[in-house]
Amino acid sequence: MAKITKLDDIVSLCKRRGFIFQSSEIYGGLASCYDYGPLGSELKRNVRNAWWKAVVQMRDDVVGLDCSILMHPLAWKASGHADKFADLVTVCKKCNTRTRVDHLADAPENIEHVKLEVAQAEASNLGKKICPSCGTIGQFGEPMAFKLMFETQMGANAEDSMTVWLRPETAQGIFANFANVLQTTRIKVPFGIAQTGKSFRNEVTTKAFIFRTREFEQAEIEFFCEPGTDEQWWSHWKEERFNWYLNLGIKKDNLRLREHDRDELAHYAKGCVDVEYKFPFGSGDWQELEGIANRTDYDLRQHQRGMRTINSWYENGKDTLKAKLAPEAEDYEKGPLSYFDDEKKKRYIPYVIEPSAGIDRSTLAFLVDAYDEDEANGETRSVLRFHPSLAPIKLGIFPLVKKDGLPEIGTAMYNHLKKYFNCMYDEKSAVGRRYRRQDEAGTPYCVTIDGQTKEDGTVTIRERDSMKQDRISKDQVLTYMREKLDI
Ligand code: GLY
Repeated sequence: MAKITKLDDIVSLCKRRGFIFQSSEIYGGLASCYDYGPLGSELKRNVRNAWWKAVVQMRDDVVGLDCSILMHPLAWKASGHADKFADLVTVCKKCNTRTRVDHLADAPENIEHVKLEVAQAEASNLGKKICPSCGTIGQFGEPMAFKLMFETQMGANAEDSMTVWLRPETAQGIFANFANVLQTTRIKVPFGIAQTGKSFRNEVTTKAFIFRTREFEQAEIEFFCEPGTDEQWWSHWKEERFNWYLNLGIKKDNLRLREHDRDELAHYAKGCVDVEYKFPFGSGDWQELEGIANRTDYDLRQHQRGMRTINSWYENGKDTLKAKLAPEAEDYEKGPLSYFDDEKKKRYIPYVIEPSAGIDRSTLAFLVDAYDEDEANGETRSVLRFHPSLAPIKLGIFPLVKKDGLPEIGTAMYNHLKKYFNCMYDEKSAVGRRYRRQDEAGTPYCVTIDGQTKEDGTVTIRERDSMKQDRISKDQVLTYMREKLDI
């Protein structure tokens, strides 16, 4: 039976084997920031590449984009983030811990509730809530909006300097390039634009290793479709994205789709469903890996308003927070971000379905799901049962002994195969220990060159999960691996 994994096991394996380190560890670390090590950077790159392959390379209706992190500040005014992207927080009067109001749990029923003096807090039902830090019930200050965007100054001179934000989502770069993509490709609605990249949110509470961090990588698709077809495309993407995780080996029991309640929806969304994974935080917690939202025509319409605001923004000293967004034009459906369907002879602002995944939290889910312990030769072995296409190293190449010409055969094979995928050549220590090291790194196959290789040109190829070995010709290793890796 597969082992029940604890997050501590994963954190310790990640550090021990060089998947993930605390950022700035030599200075005592920086909270909620992490660095991916030699194995982790390969794993994360493979997760990103698998996403790109599925949603761009394998589809004719999605193209890629790679936008800058900094955008014109009016883009965030138009999107609603400059004014509305905030968490409601409250401070515990007893211990001063600041917590998101929506993260406060109800106190158990049998504890007498302490009456709150603050009227607004009572309105938010904080009288029944329990402080996650000190356990005090109902002693919270007035809830306040805490802005989530990181702010910085751009430009050195008074005339050209202005306040800009680090993007809190990659989506807005896509909306701002909608017309560029239409004009420079032959693509027609329905179609999507995909991109991966870093986003930043000054989260009130970070969580569980790389699960919720203030700097994180997103993988987002904005899929543009004709209004009225949005529900059908929403269903399509829910199914596609759910299956993506399953096809890459996530166990079905650990994955579910959950529709948002109305009060959970982001300011731009008509509906949203989350792909959730059962993470081993606490006693097992369903947490979002990806949200699939129906953003309607909200963003393109808002950017049309943003474009009409630009002159007054300059006239009013480039103060984005005080800027007043221009009203929507009466003929907004014919605006610069509209689409003309030349078959139906119809102009409209497309609706948008947005599958928005977190690369870091998906990487964590793949790590957690892959982690297992079993027995090999009477000893406990730690193994990462990664899907071959996600494994950081695809093939270990070992000469059985460091003599008799076996290392020469091994290095020649290594130098040939590393052109196609990541290989690891290892001639040190007993072969059993070399297998264990690769099992723990998640390497799906290992080739061993032995005395028989010199006689008949065959090698053993060992599969990580079953530990079964086949004998094949050394010239067939490339074909064998390509079939397994689907490349
Ligand atoms: N673009 C959706 C999100 O960042 O959550």
